[in-house]
Amino acid sequence: MPYTPEEIRDAVAAGPITEEYRADAKRVIEHLNRLRSTEIASYLQYKQHAYTAVSLLSPGLKGEFAAHADVELQHADMLGERIQQLGGVPVYSPADIARKAAEEGVRAEQAATLADMVVENLMLERRQIVAYITLIREIGDGDPTTSRLLGGILEATEKHAAELADYLKRTAETGR
Ligand SMILES: [Fe+2]
Ligand SMILES: [Fe+2]
Repeated sequence: MPYTPEEIRDAVAAGPITEEYRADAKRVIEHLNRLRSTEIASYLQYKQHAYTAVSLLSPGLKGEFAAHADVELQHADMLGERIQQLGGVPVYSPADIARKAAEEGVRAEQAATLADMVVENLMLERRQIVAYITLIREIGDGDPTTSRLLGGILEATEKHAAELADYLKRTAETGR
């Protein structure tokens, strides 16, 4: 074996992080845990809205909320896996998750009307968009895998926000 015991020990400790990794892994993990917390809050909010969205005027909305909730959970999973790969621990205490989501201005809300629920979801998605773009910009090309992962989630988040905004535009036009 051409490797010294020290080289092997260092490689085992660092896992996928090499000397070409140019981001601050600790900081990235901290950000990823905050973003993951917003995804869990988003999941809970969409689920809650799906349970309570029973209006006959918008029969599709319940399914839309439920479908978005599933995507949010996928985002939380993707971020959790990346946190682990970078040597971090995904935050799992509900209190810590709530606190970290709040640091990004996100907490699960439950409005009384369907239109207000859609507004709450739109606002949450938009906060996430800001947070994802900020982190992607900060990482730059220092951690291409995390950047690509964040870019994919950002794309889905913008899609959600566009759908919600379109719904609100449509209902404003038709008056219901
Ligand atoms: Fe999401
Ligand atoms: Fe979303």
